[in-house]
Amino acid sequence: MRMSVIGCGYLGAVHAACMADLGHEVVGIDVDPGKIEMLASGHAPFFEPGLPEALRRALDSGRLRFSTDPADAAGAQVHFVAVGTPQTAGSDAADLTYVDAAVQGLLPHLADGDLVVGKSTVPVGTASRLADLVRASSGADLAWNPEFLREGFAVADTVSPDRFVYGVPSGDAGERATAVLDEVYATALATGTPRLVTDYATAELVKVSANAFLATKISFINAMAEIAEATGADVTQLADAIGHDARIGRRFLNAGLGFGGGCLPKDIRAFQARSRELGLESLDFLADVDAVNLRRRDRVVALADELLGGHVRGQRVAVLGVAFKPDSDDVRDSPALDVARRLHAAGAEVVVFDPEANHTAARIAPDLSYVDDAASALSGADLVLVLTEWKQFKALRPADVLPLVAHPRLVDARNVLDPAAWRDAGFEYRALGRP
Ligand code: UGA
Repeated sequence: MRMSVIGCGYLGAVHAACMADLGHEVVGIDVDPGKIEMLASGHAPFFEPGLPEALRRALDSGRLRFSTDPADAAGAQVHFVAVGTPQTAGSDAADLTYVDAAVQGLLPHLADGDLVVGKSTVPVGTASRLADLVRASSGADLAWNPEFLREGFAVADTVSPDRFVYGVPSGDAGERATAVLDEVYATALATGTPRLVTDYATAELVKVSANAFLATKISFINAMAEIAEATGADVTQLADAIGHDARIGRRFLNAGLGFGGGCLPKDIRAFQARSRELGLESLDFLADVDAVNLRRRDRVVALADELLGGHVRGQRVAVLGVAFKPDSDDVRDSPALDVARRLHAAGAEVVVFDPEANHTAARIAPDLSYVDDAASALSGADLVLVLTEWKQFKALRPADVLPLVAHPRLVDARNVLDPAAWRDAGFEYRALGRP
């Protein structure tokens, strides 16, 4: 099947590479010539396990090409819109500039019977508005097919997702769109992947409500961490215990520095803004979800201050991890980078090591010092902060760290180290929500 993918950021680049790898003929289109050049030469513009290999296979097969010209979408039967919907500056609402521009750019190149497929995360009501536009200026149809991929697992999530959701128009157009999408995703559907066919509004809401639920789950356990801190309880044991209840489940119950990234924070804000626009208070609780999440950063800064005896200025702080989560070089709204910058602003000498995100962090926080390995960051440190739970940080052993640091003090902001082992080795060990 011939398809175009408009927008080659995280979502679009992975989607284009995976679709071509699965056997489709794909053109990826983006306004950024630098990104297109990298992708066309087989280089992923961001760190994502498995993506370079999928990209290479797809390019070698001759089924994948990249372009900056929207006219190259002509001739494809399916056109995926995979551009970003960031938070609008000065407001909580989603900025739809890129989605609108992508659809406008496609209009002159659509043919009768084509299907435009929205994948971007959008406020409910967007698909119906865009469908009117597409229908009015071409004989094409529109479907909304939200994407649920996680960074770090993007390739697997694209090739074999938990489920497909098709938001389609009613009647024949909906049946046609469903048949086209079934052909696009034939490989995964053949293995029994569930697929739900809904109206536009439901499909749009599935995506934002899934992210809102995940954010709420994380903030719930982080609120429990606050209670645990006040009472001497251990939030990690609490999470294990309630997680055994299959109705609750243990996943996404890791208390710590909280959520960040390019999705959960802006999606809960945009969802709440949309609900307010609809005249509803239904999602006002998401403001608390956001607030609990941000308070965890304050807590780590306060713990650092406490461990340094109230004198942050001039102290050397080793920051292990600045990516918003492991297996990613993404520092968008990264809780770890936020903490690092706040300690730097308070006068600490912050030395950062992240296995993949040093370069992305340096772009937006050039004032911090970046080093190439954990040992260099730890060397002479007055305080160690584990802020992103990369595998190599989880495997740190107190006996190896002790000889490097100036003072054995550590904040385990992701609750991934063994408190007893670090304390026995002489460290002042602090975590979030556990004694
Ligand atoms: C999230 C969703 O998980 C995807 O399903 C969705 O497709 C994507 O947003 C999107 O909208 O595009 P992602 O941003 O890659 O994916 O990251 P997550 O794995 O959801 O993690 C988000 C944040 O929550 C990270 O900062 C992580 O450290 C934090 N987290 C996660 C916790 O603090 N505790 C947990 O138990 C789990």
